[in-house]
Amino acid sequence: MNKMKIAFRLIILYATLQLAASEEYAKDTLQAEYGEIIYAGLIFRHGNRVPDKFFPKDPNRNGSWPFELGQLVNKGKQRAFKLGKFFRPRYGHLVGKLYAPSKVITHASSYDRTLMSGILFNAGFFPPSDHEIWNEELKWQPVPIHTSPASLDNVLRLVNKPCARYTKLRDDFYEKGETIKKICVQYKDEVAYIEKETGFNLTPCRSYQSILDLIYVQDTLLVETEQNFTLPEWTKKVYPHPLHSFRDSLFFTEVDDPRIKRLLAGPLLNVIASDMLNVAGRKNTLPKNMYTSEASKTPRLHLFAGHDINVVIMLKTLGVYTNKAPNYSAAVGFELRKKADKYYVTVVYENSLDEPPQVLHIPHCNGVCTFEQFLSLVTPIIPENFDAECNKLDDLGRHGNSGSIASIYNHYFTVPIPVPQ
Ligand SMILES: *[C@@H]1O[C@H](CO)[C@@H](O)[C@H](O)[C@H]1NC(C)=O
Ligand SMILES: *[C@@H]1O[C@H](CO)[C@@H](O)[C@H](O)[C@H]1NC(C)=O
Ligand SMILES: *[C@@H]1O[C@H](CO)[C@@H](O)[C@H](O)[C@H]1NC(C)=O
Repeated sequence: MNKMKIAFRLIILYATLQLAASEEYAKDTLQAEYGEIIYAGLIFRHGNRVPDKFFPKDPNRNGSWPFELGQLVNKGKQRAFKLGKFFRPRYGHLVGKLYAPSKVITHASSYDRTLMSGILFNAGFFPPSDHEIWNEELKWQPVPIHTSPASLDNVLRLVNKPCARYTKLRDDFYEKGETIKKICVQYKDEVAYIEKETGFNLTPCRSYQSILDLIYVQDTLLVETEQNFTLPEWTKKVYPHPLHSFRDSLFFTEVDDPRIKRLLAGPLLNVIASDMLNVAGRKNTLPKNMYTSEASKTPRLHLFAGHDINVVIMLKTLGVYTNKAPNYSAAVGFELRKKADKYYVTVVYENSLDEPPQVLHIPHCNGVCTFEQFLSLVTPIIPENFDAECNKLDDLGRHGNSGSIASIYNHYFTVPIPVPQ
C-alpha cells in the first residue's frame, strides 16, 4: 500500500471516530460527582433563517431568497434537528425510550421559526420506535408544541408583552446610560456612515431603535454571507468589524440593569425553579406562572424553543455572558441533580454542536450550585406579581432613575434572600 493510500485510510478512520465521538458529546460526565440529572430545562435558539428585516437600501432585499422573511432555511432545519439528536444521550433517560407526554413539554414562542425548531428538535430527540412507528417511510412521529399569543407571553416573547416599566427603564438605559453613550461617541463616524449607506435612520444613535437597527444590519449581512449573496462594496469598511462587536456587546445590554433583569429573566426562571421544586418534592411558594399552571404534571424535561434574546438573558442573569452572541440553535440547559439526599444544579451551554456542552461556572455559586444556592440566586429575580410590577413607575421619577447601576445592583443583591422550602 502506498503512502497516499495509508494517509487516506487514516483520514477515513479519523473521520469515523470523530462522528462516533460527536454522538456521545452530550453524555453526562458529572454524574459521579453530583448525581444523576433528574430534571432539565433546556432553552434553545431557533436554527438558521432568512433575515428578519432588510435595511432600506439593501440591494439583496429583492434577491431570490429560498424562503420568506424570518423563516428557517434548510441548514437551520438541519441544525434544530441535530440539536435534538445531540441532547438525546444526555436527557433521554428523563423521558424513557418512547415518547411520554407526561414527562416532557415543549413551549415555543409564537414565531414560525421557533415553532418549527421545537418540532425539529423533537423529531431528532424522539425518533419513533416499536409501536410508535406508524409509517414505514417516515421516521417521524408527531410531538405537540405549546405556544401562547405574543401579547400574553412574558416567558419567551417577553418584549412583545406590553410592560410600561420595562419600556421606561429600557429607554432611559439607552438614552441616558453610560454604556450606549460611550459606544456612540467612539463609533460616531462609523454609525454616520452606516446610516448613509443603509438608509436606516440611526440618529440619534442613543435610542433603543437605532441600536436595534444597527444590530439588524449586522444580522442581515451575516445571513447574506451564509446564503452566498454578494455584499455591497461599502460594507467592507464596517463588516465584520465593528458590526460584529456591536452585536456581541450591545445585544439586549439593558438586561445589565437588575430592575430589567427581573422583568425579562424572572418569568422563565420562575418556570424552571418551579419545575425543580416540584420534581424535588419541595414546597413551592413561587408565584404562579402561565407555563406551569396549565400542566397537570411536572415535566422531567422542559423544552423552550426561543430566540437569541432568551439565551443571552439567561447567560447575563447567571453572570456568565462573555460578550459573544449565541449561534443558531445555541442552548442553555438547567439541570437538577440528586446525589444521596443532596440536590445540585448544573448549567450547561452548547453553542457549536461540535463540542461537549460547556459546564458554566456560576459566580454566585463559585461553580456548580447546590439547589439552595441556585434558589437564592434566582428567587430574588422573580417578580411576585409581574403585571403589577410592570405598571409600577412611581420609583422611576419623571426623568428615570439617576442612580448608578452598581448601587441598584447592590441594593437587590445584598438584602437577605428567603429560600423557599
Ligand atoms: C426592490 O424592488 C422594488 C420594487 O419591486 C423597488 O421599488 C426597490 O427600489 C428595490 N430595492 C432595491 C434596494 O433594489
Ligand atoms: C454557498 O456556497 C458554498 C460553496 O460553494 C456551498 O457549499 C454552500 O452550500 C452554499 N450555500 C447556500 C445556502 O447555497
Ligand atoms: C459557534 O460558536 C463557536 C464558539 O462558541 C464557534 O467556534 C463556531 O464556529 C460557531 N459557529 C457554528 C456554525 O457552530
